[in-house]
Amino acid sequence: MAELDEVLRVDELRTYFYTQEGTVRAVDGASFAVKRGQVLGIVGESGCGKSVAAQSILRIVPPPGRIVGGQIIYHRQVAADGASNLSEMLNLTEMHPRGQEMRSIRGSEISMVFQEPMTSLDPVYTVGDQIMEAITLHQNVDRREARKRAIEMLEQVGMPRPGEIVDNYPHQLSGGMRQRVMIAIALSCHPSLLIADEPTTALDVTTEAQILDLMRNLQKQTGTAIVYITHNLGVIAEMCDDVAVMYLGKVVEQADVDSIFYDPKHPYTQALLRSIPRIGQARKRLEPIKGIVPDPYAIPQGCPFWPRCIHAMPGLCDHDQPEYVPIAPGHSVRCHLFRQEAM
Ligand SMILES: Nc1ncnc2c1ncn2[C@@H]1O[C@H](COP(=O)(O)OP(=O)(O)O)[C@@H](O)[C@H]1O
Ligand SMILES: [Mg+2]
Repeated sequence: MAELDEVLRVDELRTYFYTQEGTVRAVDGASFAVKRGQVLGIVGESGCGKSVAAQSILRIVPPPGRIVGGQIIYHRQVAADGASNLSEMLNLTEMHPRGQEMRSIRGSEISMVFQEPMTSLDPVYTVGDQIMEAITLHQNVDRREARKRAIEMLEQVGMPRPGEIVDNYPHQLSGGMRQRVMIAIALSCHPSLLIADEPTTALDVTTEAQILDLMRNLQKQTGTAIVYITHNLGVIAEMCDDVAVMYLGKVVEQADVDSIFYDPKHPYTQALLRSIPRIGQARKRLEPIKGIVPDPYAIPQGCPFWPRCIHAMPGLCDHDQPEYVPIAPGHSVRCHLFRQEAM
C-alpha cells in the first residue's frame, strides 16, 4: 500500500527504445517515490536513463521508445485540510500519452524544466506570451489579468525589470534569464510536482548557484514537490531531501540525503562518493570508478554493476539480478550483499 504523503510512485518502470541496431533498455526497472512537498534528487552518470525516466512520467517518450513495464502512480490531492488529506490514485502508464486526461496533468499538475531552455522556448514569441499561454491554458483569466500574472511570475523568479522583460524575445535574454523564464512557466500553474532535468548544467557556476537558490526558495514558498535530476552530487547535497541513485536504467539505492552521503550501502553509491571531492577530506585521493559504463545495447547479465564492482561475488552477481529490497525505513538497495538482511 502506498503511503498517503507521496505525490508520485514509480514502480519497476521499463522504457525501451526499439532501434535498428537493437533494443536500448534505457530505463530497466526503476523504482522511486516522491514525497509531497519534498525534493527527490535522481543522480547517476550520463546515459543511465534519468531523462528517459522523466519523459516516461510525463508520457513524452519519443518514438521508437515505449514504456514496456511497470507503473507510474500519481497521487492527485483532492482535499486537504487539517483533518483529512484525500488523494486519488492515477496510473499514468495506463493513460493515452495524447489523451485528454494526460494533457490536463502535463503542464498543470506535473510540469517540467529542461536542461537547455532555448529548445523549449519558442523563438518567435515574447517570453510574456509564453508565460501567458501557460497561465490561460489551465486558468480561466482574460489577457489583461494573464499579463499581470506573467509579470508577477517574472518578479517571483527574480527577473530584473519584469515589466520590460515580459515583452522580450528569448534570444534577447542570457541563459540564466531564459532558465528563470522556464521556471516561471513551469510554476505558473501551481503544479503538485515539478521535474527539473539538469536545469543548471548549461549555465556557468555563478548563475547555477543563483538558480539553485531560486528553486530552493520557491520550493519552500509554494510547497511544490520536485524531482531534481543531475549528475552532480554536490547539487544533490544542497537541494534534496531524498536521493535515488541510478545505474544503467535501474535505481540501485534510494534513501534520505544524509543516509546516502554518510551511510551509503550500494557499492556504486559508495564509488560515486569516493569519486567527488568532499570537505574535510582534502588530502584524500579521489578515486575514479574503475571501468566504463557498458554499452546500453549490451547490458551485462546479473547485476549491471558487477564488472566494475569491488565486492562482486562470482557465480551470483554475474548471474542473478538482485532485487530491490528495503533495508531500513525509507532506504532501499538493489544489491546481493543485502539479500540476507532483507529476509
Ligand atoms: N530517442 C532515443 N532513441 C534511442 N535511444 C535513446 C533515446 N533517448 C535516449 N536514448 C538512450 O537511452 C539511454 C538513457 O538516456 P538518457 O535518459 O538520456 O540518459 P541520462 O539522462 O541519464 O544522461 C541512453 O543509452 C540513450 O542513448
Ligand atoms: Mg539527461
